[in-house]
Order: sequence, then C-alpha cells, then structure tokens
Amino acid sequence: MTANPLTPADQWTIRRVLEWTTGYLTEHGSESPRLEAEILLAHARGCPRIQLYTHFDDELSEDVRGRMRALVKRRANLEPVAYLVGHREFFSLDFEVNSDVLIPRPETEMLVMEALEFLRGVTAPKVVDVGTGSGCIAVAIACHAPTTSVTAIDVSEAALAVARRNAARHQVEDRMTFQRGDLFAPLSATDTFDMIVSNPPYVATDDQTGLDPDVVRHEPHDALFAGGDGLAVIRRIIEAAPQHLRPGGTLLIEFSPEQTDAITGLFDQSGQFEEVTILRDTSQQSRAVRARRLP
Ligand SMILES: C[S@@+](CC[C@H](N)C(=O)[O-])C[C@H]1O[C@@H](n2cnc3c(N)ncnc32)[C@H](O)[C@@H]1O
Repeated sequence: MTANPLTPADQWTIRRVLEWTTGYLTEHGSESPRLEAEILLAHARGCPRIQLYTHFDDELSEDVRGRMRALVKRRANLEPVAYLVGHREFFSLDFEVNSDVLIPRPETEMLVMEALEFLRGVTAPKVVDVGTGSGCIAVAIACHAPTTSVTAIDVSEAALAVARRNAARHQVEDRMTFQRGDLFAPLSATDTFDMIVSNPPYVATDDQTGLDPDVVRHEPHDALFAGGDGLAVIRRIIEAAPQHLRPGGTLLIEFSPEQTDAITGLFDQSGQFEEVTILRDTSQQSRAVRARRLP
C-alpha cells in the first residue's frame, strides 16, 4: 500500500499503525494479521472497528499508542485476541472471557441448537450444564428458552465468576444456579433434570500436536485435557448421568471426531440409554452425541 502523501511518514496515523501491525503480526505467525490489527486498534481506541476506516488519517494519541503497543506485544506472544479484548461472540451473544475460561468455539453452538430443539417440547424445563466455563452454553440456553431453569457447574471458582457475570450481562441470572464441584458432586442425589449438556475437556493429554500453540500456551489446561485418551471426563459423565436425568431425559455431550467409536462403545456399555445419535458439525465432522435415558 502506498503511503498517503498528506501524512508525514513520522506520524502514527490509524492507517500507518494498521499497516505496521499487520506486518509485525504476520512475522509472528498470525493467520489473520490485518483483522487482528483492526480488532486490537479498535479496542485500544475504545471505538467500533468500522470507525477506523472513517478516521484513517487521524493521528493516534500517545495513550492509545501505548495501549496498542502492549496489546500487540501480547498477541505476538500468541495470547488469543479474545483474551486481549475480553470478550467473544457465541450464538450471537457477547460473552466476557478471560484466561480462566475456554474461549467459546463456533462448533459448540450446535449443542445449544440441539438443546433448544429438545426443550421446545418440555414445560418449565430443568437443564444442567456440566463444565460451564464462561457459561456460554448455559446462558445461551437460558436466553433462548425463557421458561428454562439452568444449573451451571464447574470445578473452577474463577470460571464460575465469569459465568455469573455473563448471566447477569444477559439478564438470565434469576433462572440460573451456579455450583462449584466435580461433575455432579454439587447436586443432591435426588436432583434430576430434563437435560444434561456438557462440553467437557476431551483432548488426550499426550496429544497436543493438533492444538494451536495459542491454545496450549494460554487456555486453561483443566478445560482442555482429560487423561491419556481424552475420555476421562466423558466416561464419568456417561456413567453418572442416569442418576440425574429423568426417564426420557436427554444427555448431550461434545467430543472430538476421532473419539466417535469410543463414545458409542461407552453408551453400549452403559445400557442406560436409547436413541444414541452422533451429531455432525458444519464441517460434517462427528462432534457431539445425543442420547435419551431409558424410560
Ligand atoms: C472445554 S471447557 C468448556 C467450557 C464451556 N462450556 C464452553 O463450551 O466453552 C470445559 C470446562 O469444564 C471444567 N471442568 C473440567 N473438569 C471438570 C470436572 N471434573 N467437574 C466440573 N467441571 C470440570 C473446566 O474448568 C472447563 O471450564
């Protein structure tokens, strides 16, 4: 891109900072350097991204440049953009995120769609989200199924604090309960639900090769890894879920495509479920399982 002749080369205008940052992030391995440069600069200026284009030749204040320098340095250290700006969109809702929670992934939106489909036919449904993290699944369900009560469980108190703030942000906290503990441990033995939904940790501890370095270096390992085969948490959810599902209730779990056979095997072994169905994501990969507790 040619320099604007009206802009002296020594002025740090929006245009120039974007160009410089794009080059710098490219050198540091970013796959979307221009987009990231724009998101970070909009965040540093506290303005919508579109405003950068209408103020291309504005010079940046020393304050904004300082904030931008710090953000770019962290991004070059592979810190995810969502952590740098403090939020991420999921199911068309804006969620607060920080390094205590997994960044919500687009493929997880399928779980919410499936849940909403099931809940349509249920009066005043009760749902539990196990491993709620940012609360993205639980809050999206509560927002779109307004008669539903949602219990959100996580082993991490720091994650629950983020989930609580996200519930408040979307004004569904009056229908949500937050509990800290290991899987179903915070529930009483007689608590039953119409649906259990979970995007649990499911990456095999020894298999970090498929993960981006951004993920391994910055996202919480308790949210990612689950034993040598990645199934340590899912196995326990399938075992314990029948006790907390009403007969005919639905269990919905996200997993990794290569785990499909193992997952169907776990449901066969359990013998407590029917209509075990593998669901595919938008890239046609097996990504989740839906099963009904036997009546
Ligand atoms: C893959 S993240 C999913 C977060 C969120 N539901 C989402 O879809 O973005 C898994 C979450 O499960 C939590 N977790 C891991 N082991 C757990 C356990 N044994 N009991 C409860 N929560 C657990 C982690 O702290 C993390 O927040």
